[in-house]
Amino acid sequence: MKVEIVGRVLSTLPPEDDHPYRTGAWRPNHIEYDATDLDVVGEIPNDLDGVYLRNTENPVYESIGRYHPFDGDGMVHMIRFRNGRAEYRNRFVRTLGLADEQAAGHALWAGLVEPPARSLRADGWGARGRLKDASSTDIVVHAGRALTSFYQCGDLYVLDPTTLDTRGRETWGGRFPSRVGVSAHTKVDEHTGELLFFNYATDPPYMHYGVVSAANELVHYTDIPLPGPRLPHDMAFTEHYAILNDCPLFWDAEAMAKGIYAARFHPELPTRFAVVPRRGTNADVRWFEATPTYVLHWINAYEEGDEIVLDGFFQRSPAPAPRRTGSYYERMFHYLALDAMDARAHRWRFNLATGRTTETDLSDRVMEFGMINARYGGRPYRYAYNMTGKPGWFLFDGIVKHDLATGRETRYAFGDGIYASETPMAPRAPGAAEDDGYLVTFVTDMNADRSECWIFAAAEIADGPLARVRLPERISSGTHSCWAPSSALHT
Ligand SMILES: [Fe+2]
Repeated sequence: MKVEIVGRVLSTLPPEDDHPYRTGAWRPNHIEYDATDLDVVGEIPNDLDGVYLRNTENPVYESIGRYHPFDGDGMVHMIRFRNGRAEYRNRFVRTLGLADEQAAGHALWAGLVEPPARSLRADGWGARGRLKDASSTDIVVHAGRALTSFYQCGDLYVLDPTTLDTRGRETWGGRFPSRVGVSAHTKVDEHTGELLFFNYATDPPYMHYGVVSAANELVHYTDIPLPGPRLPHDMAFTEHYAILNDCPLFWDAEAMAKGIYAARFHPELPTRFAVVPRRGTNADVRWFEATPTYVLHWINAYEEGDEIVLDGFFQRSPAPAPRRTGSYYERMFHYLALDAMDARAHRWRFNLATGRTTETDLSDRVMEFGMINARYGGRPYRYAYNMTGKPGWFLFDGIVKHDLATGRETRYAFGDGIYASETPMAPRAPGAAEDDGYLVTFVTDMNADRSECWIFAAAEIADGPLARVRLPERISSGTHSCWAPSSALHT
C-alpha cells in the first residue's frame, strides 16, 4: 500500500475522552490520506467500476456543552475501484462552520442537545437555528458531483467525487433555498437524472419540496404546508410522485417557546403522508393517514395500479423508555440503537382511488438503513439490503438481504467487534438482474484495530466478502453512503 498523508486537522478533543460516540468504534479521524495499491485479501472484481462514498460525523473540537453523535464535522471516505484495483481517500468537508471554528481554534456553535442560546455565534444553520451545518449526514452523486448534506437542513456542499476536494456550496444558479436550506436525504432518480429534495423549518409553511434537473437547474420548488414544525428525516419517490411525511414525533411546542428543542412523540396523532405529483404544488397534494410512528428511512416506493407502495422502517418505539444502566452518555444516546427504536421493515399502500391506507410489517427482524439497486429506485423492486444493529448501540453488526417477493432474509454477521456502514449495491452491468452485482461497505474492526472495505456478491451474501481491502487507518464508524458507477462521475 502506498500512503501519503495530505492533511492533518488539529483537534482539541480531550485525550481521556469518555464519550461513547467519540471513542471506540466512533473515534474520529484527523489525518487525511491518499492511498493507492491497497492490500487486498481475496480479489477485487474486474467489473467493479466506480466509487463508494461514505459521510461521517467526525468531531474536531471539544463541544460547547454536550456532544450529540450527529454534531460531528463531515468527513467523507472514498474508495474507487477500476480494473481490479482500488484507491482510497478521506477528506473533511470544508464547511463554512468548520473554517470559522478552525480560525477560532474552538467550537463556536453548541450542538443539537444544547439550547441554541449556548452557541457563541448568533448566526448559523439548521431548522432550529444557531447550529453548525456540519454537512455530515448524507452523500449522493448528482450531475457528476458528490453532494453532502445535513439532517437539520443546511447547504449542499459540492465535492469532486474522486479527489474529494470541496468545491463550495451548491447554488443552483442563485435559486438555492438558502434561508431554509435543504435536508439530508435528497433523492437521485437514475431514470431521469433528477434530484428530488425537501426542507423543513420552524415557520410556515414548515416544509418545501423541490426538483433539480439532470442539467443541475432548479426546475420546481413548492410549499408543503404542515400543521406546525416537524422533523421529517427522509423522503421517497415513485415514477410520477414524491412522498413526504408528517410523523407525530416533533419538537415540543411549550419547550420550544422557551428556547429548548426536545423531540416528543404524540401517539394521539396519525402519521401523515403527502403524495404529490413530481412537479405538483400544494394544491395537488393527496394526504394519507396511517398508524402513528416515526420513520427515519424509507427503502423505496413504486406505483402499482391505483396504489402507491411505500416501504420503510416502522418504529414500534419512537420514544424509547430511558435506560438505567451504562454511563451518562450511554444512557443518553440509548435511543439511537436500532433495537431501542424497534424498527421493522414495513409497507404502506396508499390507494389514490379510495383515499385509503393499508399497512403491514414485512419482517419481524429489527433492521434499518436499507439500500437497493438504485436503478430500481421509484420502480417495482425485489431486494433490499438492510443493516442490523448491535443491541444498545448505534453500530451495524450485520447485513440482511431481504427478498421482498418471498420474504426470505439472508443475514451475514460481521463478527464480534466489527461494524460496517450503510451498504449500497453496485450493479455489475447495465441491464443485469436486480441482484447481479456487489455490495460495498467500510468496516471498523475493533479486534484488529484496522479498517477495511468489504465487497460481497449481492446474489450470495452468506458466502462472506469476495475481497477485503485494507485502509491506511482505522476509520470511525459511520452510516450514510452511496455507490456511483464511473459513468456517473465527471472527473
Ligand atoms: Fe438518515
